[in-house]
Amino acid sequence: MERGLIIGIVFNLVWPVPVNCGFQLKNVNCESFDTSYWDFHRCEMKIVRRGVAAFYMFWKIYKLPINNAIINVSLYKKSNGYRPFLFNQSVDFCYYMRNPQAHPLMSMLHKAFMPASNINHSCPYNHDLIINDFIYNKNDFKDLPIPNGEYMIEAKFASYKVHRALIKIYVKRND
Ligand SMILES: *[C@@H]1O[C@H](CO)[C@@H](O)[C@H](O)[C@H]1NC(C)=O
Ligand SMILES: *[C@@H]1O[C@H](CO)[C@@H](O)[C@H](O)[C@H]1NC(C)=O
Ligand SMILES: *[C@@H]1O[C@H](CO)[C@@H](O)[C@H](O)[C@H]1NC(C)=O
Repeated sequence: MERGLIIGIVFNLVWPVPVNCGFQLKNVNCESFDTSYWDFHRCEMKIVRRGVAAFYMFWKIYKLPINNAIINVSLYKKSNGYRPFLFNQSVDFCYYMRNPQAHPLMSMLHKAFMPASNINHSCPYNHDLIINDFIYNKNDFKDLPIPNGEYMIEAKFASYKVHRALIKIYVKRND
């Protein structure tokens, strides 16, 4: 459903894991609250070669098409538990996909992972959402204004005003 904004954000998280450099993906977690509506058949980070992790997602959509979606994206920083940090934004996904320049941050995230997905088009979505073998490029996100540390990106997905999925991506920045 979404091109990834969030997902972008979220999903993008397949980070190569060169020790001591840039972002690393630590973990991903996808959860559906209504498995008759949509469900995650795959949501996985896998080490594909030394120091390189890839992200895979197969988001099965049972109620097609999707022509309405709101994504709430929040960033948390770890410090005595995860606390809200820097951004917390609600995005109309279908609007965003028609006007990616309206959300520069989202746009940066989604540019990174779009090529590995089938999400790069505008609404409606008439198919399952797939991210296959997403590998983080060290130049992606390097301009994100966040200090070294551990973070969680949380993306809540609502369609037709019902909150139905939650994706969490855990990453670490260590430049
Ligand atoms: C984000 O903003 C919404 C609405 O303003 C608020 O309900 C929510 O608690 C906030 N989440 C975080 C992580 O700050
Ligand atoms: C997403 O954000 C909007 C606007 O801040 C809020 O009204 C809505 O309840 C939030 N949805 C979820 C699932 O948190
Ligand atoms: C996404 O699609 C648009 C429009 O077809 C294209 O201009 C853009 O380059 C694509 N982005 C990526 C990252 O594939």
